[in-house]
Amino acid sequence: MQHIAIIMDGNGRWAKERGLPRAEGHRAGAESVREVMEACKGLDVKYLTLYAFSSENWNRPEAEIEALMTLLERFLDEKMEELDKQNVRLQAIGQLDRLPASTRERLERIQEHTKDNDSMTLVLALSYGAREEITAAARSIAEAAVSGKISPEDITCDLFAKHLYTADIPDPDLLIRTSGEMRISNFLLWQISYSEIVIVKKMWPDFRQGDLIAAVEEYKSRDRRFGAL
Ligand code: IPE
Ligand code: IPE
Ligand code: MG
Repeated sequence: MQHIAIIMDGNGRWAKERGLPRAEGHRAGAESVREVMEACKGLDVKYLTLYAFSSENWNRPEAEIEALMTLLERFLDEKMEELDKQNVRLQAIGQLDRLPASTRERLERIQEHTKDNDSMTLVLALSYGAREEITAAARSIAEAAVSGKISPEDITCDLFAKHLYTADIPDPDLLIRTSGEMRISNFLLWQISYSEIVIVKKMWPDFRQGDLIAAVEEYKSRDRRFGAL
């Protein structure tokens, strides 16, 4: 098990069930991030990708977007030293130029600061959309072809994958979505072609280390055939 990807869903419903504002759900969800990072250490997972903010999430009310960005910045401020001490590398994927400058600067600083760490890579999908990612890859391949650097025959699956945000990251083995929703919501469409999917009913703020371990156990019981026999 090299790579676990998680669609962290259900913060808003978690808050609503408790009569709290949605932002409280997001705040509580940050604790679950700590939990899964801890569990991943024990499981020797090399990549953990967390879907934290989608391209479509820009359509939410401005106040919610602001609350999410503030939480993210706080997470980065508080976590930077700890991540580094634990030899964790941070990598962000998505249309990062759409993020507020204060968020982007923190991300750039921490990515640079942790770039040589190699115990685990925490990949944050921020302002991320798989269709946008695939479209950007197609655009850069077209530019390379037009300028004569490659010819159309050079375009293979491997070459295409090298133009994605995840160029140096292996595909997820396991994809987890919380809150019981059975959909992908524009997450890693290319990369999850053969990932095992585990849907967990719990809302994200209720997700604990034991839930991750249970999902990994479920994964281990699966027979991955990759189309062969
Ligand atoms: C997931 O929780 C976090 C983000 C998408 C940023 P939601 O905010 O989607 O919570 P629900 O799905 O409305 O309960
Ligand atoms: C997917 O959750 C995006 C993140 C978890 C960041 P959404 O709540 O945005 O997805 P939909 O709207 O239920 O498909
Ligand atoms: Mg949701």
